[in-house]
Amino acid sequence: MTFADELAVVGTSVGEINAILEAAELHRPKKYASLNDAAIRMEHVSFTYKQEDGEVLHGISLDIASSTVTALVGYFGSGKSAIAKLIAGFWDVSGGRVTLGSVDLKEVLLAQFNRQIAYVSQDNYLFDRTVRENIRTSCMSTSDTEVEAVAKVAECDGFIRALD
Ligand SMILES: Nc1ncnc2c1ncn2[C@@H]1O[C@H](COP(=O)(O)OP(=O)(O)OP(=O)(O)O)[C@@H](O)[C@H]1O
Ligand SMILES: [Mg+2]
Repeated sequence: MTFADELAVVGTSVGEINAILEAAELHRPKKYASLNDAAIRMEHVSFTYKQEDGEVLHGISLDIASSTVTALVGYFGSGKSAIAKLIAGFWDVSGGRVTLGSVDLKEVLLAQFNRQIAYVSQDNYLFDRTVRENIRTSCMSTSDTEVEAVAKVAECDGFIRALD
């Protein structure tokens, strides 16, 4: 009886971790694709997270030219982040296609794609560690000098140094 509640919590956490480990892999080619430019295009894109939740995006078409800035404006829950996540390749579209430099995202090698796209999430998570360690999270061998250089490039160096 003492541990009944804790077991339920552990069960939920293990379930969430398993869902990530068991999620289907995104299938991508092993060869570099030849991209025309950095233009992004969506053609009649539809998207569904889970069948039971219904379709989130219906027939979205848009063109984003190279070297331009585009803002998506709309009601909360209207699908702005869903569009950004599809462009960032976090999910595959359910219908239609997304292209980068006229090549379908599904045909672009992941390592190549990751050099083209930077994604800043709306919901950020900071680990209960120093800012330096948080920046270093994805590559633990990064030196202090490199972490500082990255912070300068991202223009957050001044903000971090001003923190208490
Ligand atoms: N992981 C998910 N699983 C299932 N449905 C989701 C998931 N994330 C978002 N949704 C649903 O997808 C729809 C579009 O959400 P999205 O986050 O793209 O909207 P948004 O326009 O970015 O909203 P906001 O202005 O609040 O950021 C919403 O109905 C939302 O509830
Ligand atoms: Mg959003």
